[in-house]
Amino acid sequence: MEFDLVIDGGRVYVDGRFASLNVGVLAGRVAAMSALPMRTHAQGTSINAAGKLVFPGTIDTHVHFRDPGRTDKEDFESGTRAAAAGGVTTVLDIQNNVPLTTDATVADEKHAAIASKAHVNYGIYGSVGVQNLDKLAGMADRVVAFKAFMTKSVGPLTVTDLGDLSKAFAAIKGLGRVFTIHAESDAIVQVAKEGLPDHISSHVKSRPRVAEWVAVAEAIELCREYRVPLNIPHISTGRAATLVKQAKEDGLPVSGATCAHYLLFTDDDVIAGGGFWKVNPPIKFAEDREQLLAAVKSGAIDHVHSDHAPHTLEEKSKNFLAIPSGIPGIQHQLPALLELAARGALNYEDVGRLLCDGPAQAFGLDRGRLTVGAAADVVIVDPSVETCSAPSDLQSKTGHSIFTGLTLRGRVATTILAGTVIFDGAGLPRLATPSGQRLSARV
Ligand code: DOR
Ligand code: ZN
Repeated sequence: MEFDLVIDGGRVYVDGRFASLNVGVLAGRVAAMSALPMRTHAQGTSINAAGKLVFPGTIDTHVHFRDPGRTDKEDFESGTRAAAAGGVTTVLDIQNNVPLTTDATVADEKHAAIASKAHVNYGIYGSVGVQNLDKLAGMADRVVAFKAFMTKSVGPLTVTDLGDLSKAFAAIKGLGRVFTIHAESDAIVQVAKEGLPDHISSHVKSRPRVAEWVAVAEAIELCREYRVPLNIPHISTGRAATLVKQAKEDGLPVSGATCAHYLLFTDDDVIAGGGFWKVNPPIKFAEDREQLLAAVKSGAIDHVHSDHAPHTLEEKSKNFLAIPSGIPGIQHQLPALLELAARGALNYEDVGRLLCDGPAQAFGLDRGRLTVGAAADVVIVDPSVETCSAPSDLQSKTGHSIFTGLTLRGRVATTILAGTVIFDGAGLPRLATPSGQRLSARV
């Protein structure tokens, strides 16, 4: 057999471990995986992955590109270009600016706006507010999941009242979609933010750890009652990770995710670094970081996403209270986890679990696995080469990142989407016509 693409000599992540395998791709799908030599046809591409790790293309279940509405900050083209450079081949996008994805018509308009711009595969979330509970069933076939905010973050829509949140659970029940809840308690945040000075050190005080603990507990109890698959994203405290672990042990359909910024940084970095580190939930303390690392290691937290949230350089340079929260991190998530593996906090198998199997399972996506017949979405990384990004390497429109200037031990060498190289590691992605597919999900 002759293939369109052969990746040979690498250590391939399959079923939770690495094996020395060659991978043959035909018509966008994995056609063979074995230790036998493979060859391409005359027009085919051969990639020598000796010394490298071959993962399924990673999945980022939680990003906020600003398309449509605020494409000056990010659009689907730039956001998915950053994804490709970061080894991400599937993104799930949450519209967090007007027009929010509140019904089937707006969902169709969003799909129309982004379809031709996606360099990687994608799905979109439906926005959940008190006002649109009767619209959720009607848009279920257009979205991969639903999202609600228990307190205001950056977008305008919230579900702060527990009665309303229980109505949202009832509305989503039976739709076969995950309900993602930004879990910080509004009542606690309202009290905590009173009278704080206009300084970055106020951020973690204005959205304290207990706001997350209480909201996560409430969301889990509603899941216990309604049995709607619940995702707790961007977990920032050790205690919240423990609550998620307990819920899973109780047999509830709960998944939990955290972000690289909670695993690498603490409040000291935020105070030293300023507004670029301002994010909701806030980056917490050394104790939380240690507990979160233990939780991703043990599987209590099942995946990692970027929460890529682009704001302009100008906005991020304002005085503290005026700075919008959000960190654009999609391009550095995989190198950040590779760095944690280089430090020994994780191993490379954990990286595959947290960025491939974990997210696919949590959201019911047909991606994140390399096996014969699977879509040939692949990322090849070189663990021995460092990522030292300069601002000029950034593909996001924002032009800033808390990860520039850091040395991360591990580098994205090649990103492949359906058998086609979309990023070859040498500077700008080699991108022609975007070929990302709209994915569906079912839980
Ligand atoms: O820091 C954040 N930024 N947290 C969110 O919940 C939303 C996000 C955004 O869209 O900017
Ligand atoms: Zn988010």
